[in-house]
Amino acid sequence: MPQPIRDTAIAAMLDREARHFIQRNPRSRALSEEAAKNWLRGVPMHWMVDWGTPFPLFVADAKGVDLTDADGNAYIDFCLGDTGAMFGHSPPPVVETLQREGASGFTTMIPSVVAAEVGKLLADRFGLPFWQVTATASDANRAVLRWCRAITGRQKILVFNHCYHGAVDETYVTIDGGTPHADPALIGEPRDLTALTKVVEFNDVAALEAALAPSDVACVLAEPVMTNVGMVLPDEGYHTRLRQATRRTGTLLIIDETHCMSSGPGGYTRAHGLEPDGLVLGKPIAGGLPAAVYGFSSAVAERIRSFLEKRTPGHSGIGTTLSGSKIQLALMRTVIETYFTDAAFAPLIALAEELEQGLAQVIARRGVPWHVVRVGARVEFMCSPRRPRNGGEAAQLIHRPADRAIHHHLLNRGVIITPFHNMMLICPATTEAHVAQLVEGVDRCIAELTS
Ligand SMILES: Cc1ncc(COP(=O)(O)O)c(C=O)c1O
Repeated sequence: MPQPIRDTAIAAMLDREARHFIQRNPRSRALSEEAAKNWLRGVPMHWMVDWGTPFPLFVADAKGVDLTDADGNAYIDFCLGDTGAMFGHSPPPVVETLQREGASGFTTMIPSVVAAEVGKLLADRFGLPFWQVTATASDANRAVLRWCRAITGRQKILVFNHCYHGAVDETYVTIDGGTPHADPALIGEPRDLTALTKVVEFNDVAALEAALAPSDVACVLAEPVMTNVGMVLPDEGYHTRLRQATRRTGTLLIIDETHCMSSGPGGYTRAHGLEPDGLVLGKPIAGGLPAAVYGFSSAVAERIRSFLEKRTPGHSGIGTTLSGSKIQLALMRTVIETYFTDAAFAPLIALAEELEQGLAQVIARRGVPWHVVRVGARVEFMCSPRRPRNGGEAAQLIHRPADRAIHHHLLNRGVIITPFHNMMLICPATTEAHVAQLVEGVDRCIAELTS
């Protein structure tokens, strides 16, 4: 019978590791003090302090799976920019494209000569015929919501409890005590988001059908597997029911593949035969440089065409000047051709399976009430005995203090996993030796926590 880990053991580890962190990172500490003079919260992006370390680590160099910090400490990176660097840091084909294409223009407001080719690559790989480019996945999701509202004439959207789709205001609605409410953490949002957004638990078919029944929802925006609150897998047949319920009620179905494209060269959608009306792909699609895309079915594209014929001319609220640029298209061509292939994905998935098995064995041998899940090249362990079936359950099961202690322990021993939960990605530069080092690191960490 697995024994829960004592809170005192977790607190003691965190305390030990925080002191160790301070000791091994004097240069990062000095840089954090300097940076605090001119950056809000001392960092270029305010959530960078949310890693929870005594001060932020400052990076000096990142290549492939190797990262070096300001103090010269070396790390194996399994966080990989939380997917932005899914194909490794500065992957050689992307660097080569940047060097070659960068010399002949970044951004022009005119489609580049490779536009047709990249559009075809997107259509071939991801199965939807019509595409647009944005700078980030957040932008792509926001644009998709606008298009869906415009062509359906419906204002509401539906998301899943504890989803994350980037900086997309309307998606920050959670269920608390049975009632939807806007996430209190959201900064500076004056609207009552519950007026625009319906929220139900993932895997709850009855709640989904009831929410869609009035036929007033423009679209459902869904990750095919929830990946931002630990990892929540769909029940057998859930996606079929989701598709049936959306079709029945004239609701568009948008699948956000930003993380789940770790499933294979056509994302989770192709790997599992989903039939969405729209798809969003971001983060690694241009090798970790700012770019994302969204695609629509022919039927949606046709509705957009007839909508545009009648629309009032002027600013649409969709699209930014740095989107669809020459350099983005060049990088996307390289990334899709190089990495979105069966041959490129097969070794990533095989190594992720090895990591999954290695962690599962450690968890079983040490008898801790944890579990491990995997979606393609993405692996997650949760410090809870059972798999959550939905976001609400997952949010309750996530053991933040344990996660934080483990992250510190690994970080101080040269291994980085994603903060906020325990996600690990395999990239082309990851080797069996790297995986073994991570598994051993988790093993040692559990040994300390249970000793
Ligand atoms: C599923 C999903 N969609 C969209 C985003 C937003 O991506 P970005 O921060 O690059 O805009 C994220 C970010 O983590 C995400 O996990």
